[in-house]
Parts: sequence; structure tokens; C-alpha cells
Amino acid sequence: MTQRRILVTSALPYANGHIHIGHLVEYIQTDIWVRFQKLRGNQCVYICADDTHGTAIMIRAWKEGRSEEELIGEMREAHIRDFAEFDVSFDNYGSTNSPESRELCNEIWGKVVEAGLVIEKDVEQLYDPEAETFLADRFVRGTCPNPKCNAPDQYGDNCDKCLSTHEPLELIDPRSTLSGATPVLKTAPHKFIQLEELHDFLAEWVDSGDHLQPEVANYLKGHFLGAGTEKNPRKELKNWDVTRPPKYFGFEVPDFPGHCWYVWFDAPIGYIGSTRQWCDANGEDFDSWWRDSETEVHHFIGKDITYFHTLFWPGILKTAGFNLPEKVHIHGFLTVDGKKMSKSEGTFVMASTFARNVNPAVLRYYYAAKLGPNLDDLDLNLEEIVQKVNSDLIGKVVNIAARAAKFVGGQTLAETYPEDGGLFEAASAKADEIAAAYERCDYASAMREIMALAAAANFYIDEKQPWTLKKDPEKQGEIQGICSVALNLFRQLVVYLSPVLPKLAEQTCELLNAPIENWDDVKTPLTGTPVSKFQHMMKRVTEEQVTAMIEESKAENEAQGEDGTAAEAAGEQWNDGPEALAAEPMTEECTIDDFMKVDLRVARIVSAGDVEGADKLLALTLSLGGGETRNVFAGIKAAYKPEDLIGRLVVCVANLKPRKMRFGTSEGMVCASGPGGEDVFLLSPDEGAVPGQRVH
Ligand code: 2FM
Ligand code: ZN
Repeated sequence: MTQRRILVTSALPYANGHIHIGHLVEYIQTDIWVRFQKLRGNQCVYICADDTHGTAIMIRAWKEGRSEEELIGEMREAHIRDFAEFDVSFDNYGSTNSPESRELCNEIWGKVVEAGLVIEKDVEQLYDPEAETFLADRFVRGTCPNPKCNAPDQYGDNCDKCLSTHEPLELIDPRSTLSGATPVLKTAPHKFIQLEELHDFLAEWVDSGDHLQPEVANYLKGHFLGAGTEKNPRKELKNWDVTRPPKYFGFEVPDFPGHCWYVWFDAPIGYIGSTRQWCDANGEDFDSWWRDSETEVHHFIGKDITYFHTLFWPGILKTAGFNLPEKVHIHGFLTVDGKKMSKSEGTFVMASTFARNVNPAVLRYYYAAKLGPNLDDLDLNLEEIVQKVNSDLIGKVVNIAARAAKFVGGQTLAETYPEDGGLFEAASAKADEIAAAYERCDYASAMREIMALAAAANFYIDEKQPWTLKKDPEKQGEIQGICSVALNLFRQLVVYLSPVLPKLAEQTCELLNAPIENWDDVKTPLTGTPVSKFQHMMKRVTEEQVTAMIEESKAENEAQGEDGTAAEAAGEQWNDGPEALAAEPMTEECTIDDFMKVDLRVARIVSAGDVEGADKLLALTLSLGGGETRNVFAGIKAAYKPEDLIGRLVVCVANLKPRKMRFGTSEGMVCASGPGGEDVFLLSPDEGAVPGQRVH
């Protein structure tokens, strides 16, 4: 396989706020892709930086009584800390406020001017005479001008009471939110880039190759470019206002003294500036990364900033003679429990708050399991995250190592790889399919494939039952063989999962004393190598941790000032220590006393039906005799039709603590066996059993 040279970026986070779980969708998505490319043996660098310029930073620094440089320096440290907690591993994390970026802005601007794309025009805008800066509409507040409303303290563009729209100066008693001064209208010259001059090039770029997801290309053609057909005539791209008059925090435009580039002009140039920093620090040739058709540039962004990256940015790169993006990978937004992240509900969770309460690997895996190649929004369901991660990572993956390593810890794997019924071969045969899913950012499919392999490995151990052979000294060789198979199957899973779970990969390297360095490590089993003593690898995530995280977010939000900045990052890092990352095997012992607490009873299903909004659940009403009933939500929809269940006897856990779910409260559980999905088999007592009878 030829080695590809790939430069990858994530959108540069603004330096005026902390990283939250919404941001992390993108950084985790990108980091997984980069780790995957590196594991495939490609030369891949992951470049990012803080996006530091603009009015928002200037105002925040001003309000906090310090310099912009101090503010962005502190925020950069916080961002770097947050990313490290989530194992987001950049090759270079720069800043748009760097000498490298300034130099590149000058160079690129020179080329854009030289190409005749720049014109100057006067713009009339609101101005704060005290703060001496122009104001965006949202920085003006006053009384709603609608005579029927007159609500106080409304924004410059619309009223949130009567929903009418207005011009900022129509407000009664308009005030600048910066200084309290009355804004005035003032005219200043601005420089514009005439993007329409690049129309033909952009139309071709949008349509050619595989640079954009199809829905993005269609959107651009529909909204901005047109297609030149009768139905969708060619549209003109608007001139783009790329400078701001003083005062503005940014780089001064060389041929426009006192004026700075608009933050969105220099932000993407930060990708190149940060690459230059990395090249200088690593003796790399800059041109081979940004001016070489062999190099692939991949940008990962959210759908809100599509325009900048798919029209403006390729236009600038083309004009200035840099590589065009090979692909712009665009993802959707994050919702939590089906709703927009909300500060008051505590679902607007900062990265540091998440990491203080829940193992960051949980979020990495959960996002991977939900991320597809399209722009769909990703929903973080607070119940599902607990169930899914525990069931997949603890129950299916780590459990294999926990069950096998304890018998061979301190010994070695078998000298020759034992007969395993074709399991190892079958898992390694999936390498291309799983790689293709990672490559197209379809991590959800990759995770599904990997979990199917994990189920097969568990099935093998369940069948072989090494624990039953433990007491027989003559069976030690057999145990070693079974465990050698199990640990090799485990290692294959970990290789496949390693872009998502780098810590688990490290722990596995330590356990099996063999590095995981290449995707092809799935192809050859380890033999004769030492096995270390098993150390716990991952703790279960609990509902309590998730609840504590939400509560902490709520409290942080309440403690924040109006502008949402004050106590955002409430302090220390996750202080659970390395032990928190250590694992917990699935096979926890249950004492007879524990078991006796479970009230298993015969029950008859008296009604069964679908649950609106739930793909996997059926709502069951169970009769326990004597008029006693339980309403239960059971995840058996793939296996049973509701009408076939009515009248059936089942075994139920009658004293399970009722659990509030999105759809209602579940008051028990029905017992079933099988791996899940369509293969779920309800335990059925003999027809002679009577509802209410205890099961022993
Ligand atoms: O939307 C944002 O958060 C911007 N700071 C992203 C900039 S991406 C790039 F262009 F720098
Ligand atoms: Zn109003």
C-alpha cells in the first residue's frame, strides 16, 4: 500500500470560550480519523490552533480589564488541557495570533490584491463613541419601538417579546452594551473580495471529485452558485467584506493602515500558519504540505461554517497558489436527549465538567458509535450512553481480557496459535471493511462490525468455559490454549478500536507485552509472548456519574455572570487519578445473599404494544396474579411481535427498583437469553406455572 501524505484540521475554536461537549463531536471525530490514518501507516499530521481575533475577544478582554494577549494566552492553555483530557492529540496547536499566521496573511493578501479581486467601499455602521469601536447589532440594546410592545432591553435587530424586527437605531433609547453610550451611525471604508470573479472555478470545484458530501454540494448549488439551468439559474456570489475599521483586535492590513482583517479572513489562514510552525519545529518542508498535489488536505468542520470552508476558502487557496482541500468533512450538531444543549437544564456540559465526572473514553466511544458519514445531528442520550458503553466496552470487549488473562497472567501465550474454529481468520478478514468505514467517517458501522466480532469472541469463551478446567492440573495446557485464543481475539478488537480508545490500546500493549503499531497487527496472532498480570482496564459508567455531571453543569451555569464567562471552568481537572481509568471486569461475583434479594416470579403478559419513539422497546403489562401488575419496557421488539406475546408466561424480576425512562416508568424486567437483536428468547415457565409463583 502506498503511503499517503495527509494534512488534517479541525475548525479552530474561538478563544472566547471553553471547550464543551458540542465542540468535542468534531475534535473526537477528527482525532479518530487521524489516529486511524497513522495506524494505516500514512504520514498524517493533525493541525489546529486557537481562533483569537475579532470583536468578541476585544470586548471580553476589555470587560475583564486585561489585554487580549493575556486572555487568549490563558484560554489557549485551557483548550490544550481540555483536549488532552479527551486524548485529542494534535501534532501542532498554534494560534491565529502568531507571527507565522501574520506572515501568511500578508502573503495571501498580496496574492488576492494582485489578482485584482479587492475593491474598497464605504460602509455605514453603528459606532460606540466611548469604546471607539463599531458595533454589531447584537451589541446594541434598547426599548422595543413597536408601540404595542415597548419591551425594555431588547436587541438591535429583533424583539424577543413581540418578535418584531427593527433597525438598531429604531430602538427607543438605544445603548451600546459595551459602554452604555448612545451609538451613532458612522461611515468607514472597508475592503471587499469579489468572490463572483471565482464563480466558475468554485462551481467546478464543488461539482468535481469527492470534495464534499453530496448534500453539501447540492446545498451550495441551490443557495449560492446556482446551476445555470432554467430551474436553478446562475446566482451571483456576494462581495465579501474582509476588513474592519479600528478599533478591532486583529492583524493590520499592510496597505490599509489602522484597519484589520476580519476574523474570518485570518481564521482559516491559521491552518497554514500552524502547519508552518509544525514544519519549522520538525524540520519538514512547508511546500510539500501546502504546495504539493501529492498532499491531501482534509478539513473537518460543523455544518454552520460550511460557506467559509467550501466557497471563500477554496477561492482564496486557489488564488494564492496553495493546495485545495481534498475533502471538507462536515458533521451535524449535538443534541442532548433530543434537545438543543441547554445551560439551565445542565446539558450544556463543558469538557472539563464531563471529565471530572465521567471517563472521557466513554464519550469517545459513544460518539464513535453514533457518528455516520453524513450531516445528521448526533443525539447524546443520557440513558443510552450508560447502557451502550457498559454493554459494549465493559460487557463485550474488556470482559474478554478480564476473563482470559487471569488464568495466564504471569505466564506466556501458547507457542503455536491453537485451533479456534476460524475465529481469528474471520476477524482479520474484516480488516478492509472496517478500514473503509473509518475512511469514510462511518464510525457507527465500524463499531457495529467490531462489536459483532466481540460477540463471537465472548461466545467462544462461554463455550470453552476455562474456569471449569481450572482445578484440574492436567488441563493447564488446554486453559493456556483457550486463553491464548481469547486474548488474541481481544487484541484484534483493540487494534480495530485503537483510533477510538487509545488508552485501552496502551493498556493492551502492556498486558500482552506487544505494541499495537499498525492496522495489519490484526493479521498475525501473538504466540509465546509473556502475559502481564491483569490490571483493571475500564470502570463501568454509572447513572450517578452522569447525573452528577448534569448537576455540576447546572450549578456552574447558575454561578456564571450574565455574559456566561465568569466561572465557566470551575477549576481543577479530573482528579480521580489513574485508578479511575483502570478497569473493572464484567464477571463481578454475586453472593447468594445478593441473589436472594432478586424476587423472580412467574408472570403472564396481558398486554403488549409498541412504544412511540423507541425502536427496540415493547411496552408490556405483566400480571402477577391477585390483581398485581407491572408495566415493563422490554428491549425485545426485534425478536417478538406484540400480538404473539399476549397470554404468554414469562419470568420477571418483580422487585426491580422502578426506573424512569423517556417513555414512562419501567417497573420490572422480563428474563431472556441470547445475544440480542432478533436472537432474544424469553424464559418461559411450563404452562402449569401460575402467575405470582416465585421462581427459585
Ligand atoms: O466557528 C468557529 O468556532 C470558528 N472559530 C471556526 C474557525 S475555523 C477556521 F476557519 F479557522
Ligand atoms: Zn417588542
